[in-house]
Amino acid sequence: MLVVNVVGARPNFMKISPLITAMERAEMQQCLVHTGQHYDATMSDLFFRQLEIPQPDLNLEVGSGSQAEQTAEIMRRFEPVVLEKRPDLVLVVGDVNSTMACALVAVKLGIRVAHVEAGLRSFDRSMPEEINRVVTDAISDLLFVSERSGLENLRREGVPEEKIYFVGNVMIDTLLRHRARARQSDILARLGLSGGQPYALATLHRPSNVDDVEKLRGFMLALEELARDLTVIFPIHPRTRKHAANAGINGISPSLIMVDPLGYLDFLNLMDNSRLVITDSGGIQEETTVLGIPCFTVRDNTERPVTIECGTNQLVGCDPVAMLKAARDVLRNHNRRSERMPELWDGKAAERIIEILSAVAA
Ligand code: UD1
Repeated sequence: MLVVNVVGARPNFMKISPLITAMERAEMQQCLVHTGQHYDATMSDLFFRQLEIPQPDLNLEVGSGSQAEQTAEIMRRFEPVVLEKRPDLVLVVGDVNSTMACALVAVKLGIRVAHVEAGLRSFDRSMPEEINRVVTDAISDLLFVSERSGLENLRREGVPEEKIYFVGNVMIDTLLRHRARARQSDILARLGLSGGQPYALATLHRPSNVDDVEKLRGFMLALEELARDLTVIFPIHPRTRKHAANAGINGISPSLIMVDPLGYLDFLNLMDNSRLVITDSGGIQEETTVLGIPCFTVRDNTERPVTIECGTNQLVGCDPVAMLKAARDVLRNHNRRSERMPELWDGKAAERIIEILSAVAA
């Protein structure tokens, strides 16, 4: 059985890593295709090195573009790969444009598709990722689900039961595997935070939060305001940096530390030691749940409701004032620790998936 594994953007790398390891262990033949959706050293290469992902067999080097351009270009370049390799299965992870584009190509060539992280729904179709999730799930043959809400969503959409597998969260496999190594990172010292002082960690990159100059300015001002209470570390995604630069927005307060995107180990270390996290990312909502760190999600909805049920994550809306208030509340009160771990987020999701794939192939 030959499996073509697809990655494209930063959050895919943490998800594919344990799957590749489990496939190697099961002696499954595999081929890794990187679409090149993310291409900066800090958005891609660094993750391959730190997560010990083998070099891709192929890089399609699609780069950036509008939603349609990027999706179309990935499809155009992936089709000949599938035609040449004729794999038994194409495996896609997450919800980025590369996920949907490669799933579409494969299914139209009659190749079975496995989607890891299936069933998540924000019910907000203005998010490109929601479209990617809905389309990918509708055309996939094997749907691997990370939390119970995903099961309910797929059933509601009429996906046949025999396609659905509740396996847990591969991103958490990676976190648990690398947590001890991340503790050895010297990132706190590099940022001048080795004295054990509290700090907040912030990331923002969703188009709905950063593409509008006035919105972005509002968030930056709120982060500066929070930086009066405690140091705020803000690793800036290229999209956010581009829009901030165009709008002439620069960090002013010395307590708001803006840095380039960080590698996996540095970022995990920073999350693990932070007082609170502010984010609009999907994966960080999950990672803070496992780490038991209060997380304020700057969105109106989440496709990962288990993170809210567990008590670490809180939606504050796309509203800088609400974001600041929520963060200050947690500084005044006790940490909201995770009461419980989501089911099957135990570091063994990839193993379960590969066991199922092996059984299906047999
Ligand atoms: C993509 C995913 C998003 C995910 C995010 C993680 C989609 C629709 N979105 O968003 O779900 O949370 O990745 O980072 O697939 N850029 C660079 N260097 C890079 C990559 C991007 O400079 O290596 C800049 C480019 O200006 C580009 C912009 O960032 O236009 C956005 O990149 P893109 O891949 O379109 O989407 P992300 O915002 O990164």
